[in-house]
Amino acid sequence: MNADATPRDASRACGLPRLESGMLWQHVLNVSRTWLVAHDDEPVPPDAMARFQALAARRLAGEPMAYLLGEREFMGHVFHVTPAVLIPRPDTEVLVETALACLRDRQAPRVVDLGTGSGAIAISIALARPDAQVIATDASAEALAVARANAERLGARVLFLQGDWYGALPAGERYALVVSNPPYIAREDEHLTQGDLRFEPPGALTDFGSGLTALEALAAGAPDRLLPGASIWLEHGWTQAADVRRLLTQANLRDAASVRDLAGIERISGACL
Ligand SMILES: C[S@@+](CC[C@H](N)C(=O)[O-])C[C@H]1O[C@@H](n2cnc3c(N)ncnc32)[C@H](O)[C@@H]1O
Repeated sequence: MNADATPRDASRACGLPRLESGMLWQHVLNVSRTWLVAHDDEPVPPDAMARFQALAARRLAGEPMAYLLGEREFMGHVFHVTPAVLIPRPDTEVLVETALACLRDRQAPRVVDLGTGSGAIAISIALARPDAQVIATDASAEALAVARANAERLGARVLFLQGDWYGALPAGERYALVVSNPPYIAREDEHLTQGDLRFEPPGALTDFGSGLTALEALAAGAPDRLLPGASIWLEHGWTQAADVRRLLTQANLRDAASVRDLAGIERISGACL
């Protein structure tokens, strides 16, 4: 590309959809969409062009936009993301909305988000309910570093702890609500080798088993961690709702139920003590 190439020329040449090339240019030039539309026929410095071309090449190789831009919006907040964390999904907002509904009548509730990744669930709850004492855990130290930085940047009060599911929590402590979006994709599921999932941390996606082992551990451990009348809500795959309701009932929890996401899929299941 010649020395006075413009964002418009480079976008046309790169082969990406216009929306994506525009987002990459906004990121490289640190400008708004409106500015870009008004100025995309003006030459840019060679280093900006080189950075755009490097990002476009990575996108063409399949890397998720969220990792290239370093951020993703969730519940109206911008979360920084790196390849150490799952990219927060809009599907998961139903878990946060259900959690907030459960907490409506509780003052200063103690809440735990197990397997917090970027911190999206825990931080969204903490921002919506500043009176809540929110704890967020993860097995991954790298994920916790991303989550901690997000909490600090967004001004959320969250305590972060590292460890294996309930094992990360202070002994004997009970909660008004437990939420989790654990890894629930089965080891052999072909989706793991497709699309964005190829670039996300395997330990955030799969339990390296049937897909139900983390969900089973979370259901089985809940009675020792819930306050009387408190609930647990778990995100799961689109075929797993009946299995998760069964696991919750087998753990001696009551009123197991599922909630559908905006696409009409049973996306989360929960029960109470
Ligand atoms: C599906 S991701 C969810 C991330 C985030 N909560 C979200 O919804 O975007 C699952 C998370 O569980 C964590 N995890 C996996 N196994 C774990 C374990 N045994 N104990 C605690 N966290 C675990 C992973 O590191 C990952 O961050």
